[in-house]
Amino acid sequence: MEQLLNSGIKQIIDEHAEVGPILEAYGIGCVPCSVGTCLLKDIVDIHGLSATQEQALMTKIAKAVYPDRDIVIPLRAKTSTENGTDLTYSPPMKKLVDEHTWIKRLLAQVPNLIRTLDLTAEPGRQLVRDVLDFIRNYADRFHHAKEEDILFKYFDEKLDILQVMLTDHESGRSHVRAIAGAVEKQDAATVSEHLAAYRELLTEHIKKENEILYPWMDKEMSDSQIGQMFAAFSDVDVTFGDGPGKHIAFVETLEALNS
Ligand SMILES: [Fe+2]
Ligand SMILES: [Fe+2]
Repeated sequence: MEQLLNSGIKQIIDEHAEVGPILEAYGIGCVPCSVGTCLLKDIVDIHGLSATQEQALMTKIAKAVYPDRDIVIPLRAKTSTENGTDLTYSPPMKKLVDEHTWIKRLLAQVPNLIRTLDLTAEPGRQLVRDVLDFIRNYADRFHHAKEEDILFKYFDEKLDILQVMLTDHESGRSHVRAIAGAVEKQDAATVSEHLAAYRELLTEHIKKENEILYPWMDKEMSDSQIGQMFAAFSDVDVTFGDGPGKHIAFVETLEALNS
């Protein structure tokens, strides 16, 4: 079993295809992951399953890999923060989760924006530019900078889960570039397509961070690292001054416009 836990997940799925659907049933989407060098033990750990879920999952995987053996998986004792049921965050992680709330509120306005998109008139084009301003300056420079320049630096950036997050950030930036170019050409189809794709990408990305990445990182970090990170985040808040407040106000204006 130890050997199985220390095996790469892609290798396990390649050799035992039925393991993919078993993981998916527990909300662990390893099959579509393009990186895929995570070890099985890291995946089980990162996804914060309860002790009984973990026992059931490992029993099913062991049965798939060793169908002729009767392997009994013991119930692993976990603390309450490891049981996957309560999503509580450290103060700096809570800051990031609160920022996600504003990004999600902006994303919620995207369908309306697409439905009423009018790039033939300057106010319509300006509205999209304002949305891009929020994405570039709040979601990316302000929020993703905290993740990329501070939080992720406490971990090995070669870890698959971090590679996936960084790739998502880059994909988001390429959608923004595509939208910016298309607005000026009054190409409504391209703007709509990339706005919808950005919304889908960030919705999934935020879910992964809130539910998997941040709880796992909180568990891995020491109290002094958490304190250090909180101080570094506060410095970022001071550097950005009232910028984030203006972006939050823009989301509220957009919501009022569409209510
Ligand atoms: Fe992120
Ligand atoms: Fe984030």
